[in-house]
Amino acid sequence: MPIQHVVDKPSRAALFLVLNIAPGGEQATRDMLAGFTGTYKSVHFRHNDGNLYTVVGIGASMWSRLTSAPRPSLLKDFEAIHAAHDAPATPGDILLHFRANSYDLCHEMARHVLDQLGAHATVVDETQGFKYLDQRDLLGFVDGTANPFDDEALGVVLLEDDADYPRGSYVTVQKYIHDLTAWNQLSTEEQERVIGRTKADDIELDEETKPSNSHVALNDLDEDIYRENMVFGSFAAGEMGTYFIAYAKDPEYINQRLRNMFIGDPEGNYDRILDFSTALTGTNFFVPSAELMDSFDELPH
Ligand code: HEM
Repeated sequence: MPIQHVVDKPSRAALFLVLNIAPGGEQATRDMLAGFTGTYKSVHFRHNDGNLYTVVGIGASMWSRLTSAPRPSLLKDFEAIHAAHDAPATPGDILLHFRANSYDLCHEMARHVLDQLGAHATVVDETQGFKYLDQRDLLGFVDGTANPFDDEALGVVLLEDDADYPRGSYVTVQKYIHDLTAWNQLSTEEQERVIGRTKADDIELDEETKPSNSHVALNDLDEDIYRENMVFGSFAAGEMGTYFIAYAKDPEYINQRLRNMFIGDPEGNYDRILDFSTALTGTNFFVPSAELMDSFDELPH
C-alpha cells in the first residue's frame, strides 16, 4: 500500500515535519487528511520510480479536536523522562514523515500539504534527513540493521483487524544532536563498546564483550519496533544529529526502551550513547490506516 507507507527499504532522503495546528484549523486538517491520497498520487504518478513513501501521524490532543470518535486506545502524549539523561516531551499536532530516493519529492509533498493547511499550521520542527554513506549515522555506525524484515515488519507495526483502528500504527519521534568532538576522542574499540556492534563490519559484539550499558544491550528486547532513523547536519548551526523515528503497534515497546536508555537497566546503568547524544524533542502520534484517512471527514465531529 503506497500511502501510510510505514515499512519499506531504507530511503536516501527524508523530510520530518512536526506541525502545530491553530484553533480553527480542524476542518482544514480533516480536508488535508481526506485528500491526502489524491495529493500523493499527484506527486507520485509523475515520478513513480522515486520510491516516495509517505506517512501522516496525528497527536493525542489533535485527535480529540478533529473528531469525537474514541481516541486510539494507546495514543498518549510523550512522557518526558528526567533521570541520568533527559528525554523532553515537545508538542506536535501532526507529523509528516516523507521518504524518497531524492529530497525533491519530499519537498513537493510538503509544499502541497502546507498549502492546504495555510495559516492554520505552524512548523514546530523541520528536519531534512539523509542516509550517510552505507546506512550509517554520524557516529559512523550502521543504523537500522536489526530491524525486522518485510512481512515481519508489517506484523510488528500494523494494528490487527480486531483493534479499534485496524491497520493503524503508533509512532514516536525524537531529535538528537551528537557531541562529535567528545565522540571522536574515543578509540574505535571504545565506540564499539558504546554501541555494541563493530564499526566497520556492523557485527554484534558477543555477550562476553558487549557491555550491559551499550546501546544494543539495552535495546535488544523482542523485534517489536521498526526504526527509520535518518541523520541530519548543519555546518552553520554546528548541529549534527540523528532523527529517531520508530513505529510499533504498542508504544509501550518504545517507552520501555526509552526507560532502559535514560533511567537505565538496572537503574543507573543507562545507555552510554546518551553521553554523546542529547534529545531535543519527543512526540507521539497515531498513524491512521490509508482507508481511515480517506474517510476521515466522515468520522463524527
Ligand atoms: C542518538 C540516537 C540513536 C542512534 C544514533 C542510534 C543508533 C543505533 C545503532 C547504530 C544501532 C545498531 C544497528 C542496528 O541494529 O540498527 C542501533 C540499534 C538499535 N536501536 Fe538505536 N539509536 C538511537 C536511538 C534509539 C532509541 C531512542 C531507541 C528506542 C527507544 C533505539 C532502539 C534501537 C533498537 C531496538 C536497536 C536494535 C537492537 C538489537 O536488537 O540489536 N535507538 N541504534
